Amino acid sequence: MVFVEGALPGERVLVELIPSNKKSFGRGRVLEVLDASPHRVEPSCPEVDHGCGGCDFQMVAVSEQLKLKETVVRDALERVGRQDISSLEISTVALPARGYRTTVRCLVVDGVASFRARQSNQGVPVASCEVAHPLIQTLIAEGRFGTGEAAPKEVTMRVGAATGDQMVYVTPSIAPDTSVPGDDKVVLIGADDIKAGRRAWIHEEVAGRIWRISANSFFQARPDGAEALVNAVRDAVGDLRPDSRAFDLYGGVGLFAGTVFPEDCRVVMVEQNPSSIADARVNLEQDPNLDVRIVKSKVESWTPKRADVVVADPARQGLGRVAVSKITETDAPTIVLVSCDAASLARDADLLGRRGYRLDTLTVIDLFPMTSHTETVARFVAS
Ligand SMILES: C[S@@+](CC[C@H](N)C(=O)[O-])C[C@H]1O[C@@H](n2cnc3c(N)ncnc32)[C@H](O)[C@@H]1O
Repeated sequence: MVFVEGALPGERVLVELIPSNKKSFGRGRVLEVLDASPHRVEPSCPEVDHGCGGCDFQMVAVSEQLKLKETVVRDALERVGRQDISSLEISTVALPARGYRTTVRCLVVDGVASFRARQSNQGVPVASCEVAHPLIQTLIAEGRFGTGEAAPKEVTMRVGAATGDQMVYVTPSIAPDTSVPGDDKVVLIGADDIKAGRRAWIHEEVAGRIWRISANSFFQARPDGAEALVNAVRDAVGDLRPDSRAFDLYGGVGLFAGTVFPEDCRVVMVEQNPSSIADARVNLEQDPNLDVRIVKSKVESWTPKRADVVVADPARQGLGRVAVSKITETDAPTIVLVSCDAASLARDADLLGRRGYRLDTLTVIDLFPMTSHTETVARFVAS
C-alpha cells in the first residue's frame, strides 16, 4: 500500500516514491496527473501559486471534500482499526469552506506571516489566507511582526468572531519594529511576557456561553465548528438518568463540560494544561447551574471512578493504551470519543473493542475544509 499525496481517487498519476523505513506502507507524491478526477479543480486561493502548502485540499471540489473524508475515516476504521462497519451509518456535518478559522498559527519570514511550503518546512510569506476569518485576514495582510535578530519565529493570531476580540501572540518575544493594524483593539503579547506572569485572553461565544480563552489555552479553530462538536457530543452522550456522573477528559477551557451534560449531572473535567485550567475555572466554576469539578492531571495518571458516561477529546495522537485502560476502568456504559485524526480514531477503536466496547454511532464534521484534516465524534457502547 502506498499513500500518495495530491492524488484523488480514480486518477491515473505519475508518482515519485518518498524514501521511508516503514515496512507496512509507503508514501509518494504526484509528479503529474495523467487522467484527472472530475472532482479536481483549480485552487481558488492565489497563495497556492506562490507555494503555500497550508491547504492540501485546494485541488478538491468543495462539494466532494466531506465525502472524501468520510471515505478516509471508513478506510482507517476497517484497515487500521479492524472494525466491522458494514452496518454503521455515518452522519456528516458540512460547514462553510472559507473565512472560517479564528485561530491561525504562522511562521514569520521577513516580518510577514508565512505558511509552510508544500512538502517542506520553508516559510512562504502570504498576503492573504482564504480560510482565515476576516479579522485575521486583515492581521495577515497588514501585520508586520518584526525583522532582524529580534524577529519572532512564530505568530499566532486568535480572534473572537462574536466579540471582535483580537490577540497576536508571538514566540519568543515582540520585536521593536512590530506593527499590527488596529493596535488599540489588538492584544499583542510575547511568549516571554506570558512566562514572566502576564496574562492575555480573548472571549468567544459558543453554544450560548461566553468562553475566556488565554494565549496558551487550546480552543477549537472555529466557533461554528465548536458548536457543531457540542451538538454531536451532546447527541452521542444521549439521555442520562438524574444525578448521573460524567468525566470530560482532555477538557481544555471547559467546552464540553459546560454544555453537553444535563444540569443535575455531576461532572469531573480532567486537563493537564495550567492555562486551560485557569480559563475553565472562570468559564465553569462561577456558574451556579453547573456541577463541574476540575482536576489538573494527565489522563494517564488520573484515578478513574465509576461513571455513567465519559467524553474524551485527546490531541492528534489519540488516547493510546494507558488512557483507554483508565477510561474503561470507569465501567461507563457509554464512551464518546472526539478524534482529530482518522488513524488515531481507528487505533483507539481497536483498543476499546478489545476491552468490550462497540462502535455505535459516528459523525464526521468538516471542521477544516480545504485541508485533509478529519474530525469525528464516535460513540462506543459496552457490549
Ligand atoms: C483537542 S484539545 C480538546 C479540548 C476541549 N475538549 C475542547 O474541545 O475545547 C485536547 C486538550 O487536552 C489537553 N491534553 C493533552 N494531553 C493531555 C493529557 N495527556 N492529559 C490531560 N490533558 C491533556 C490539551 O491541553 C488540550 O486542552
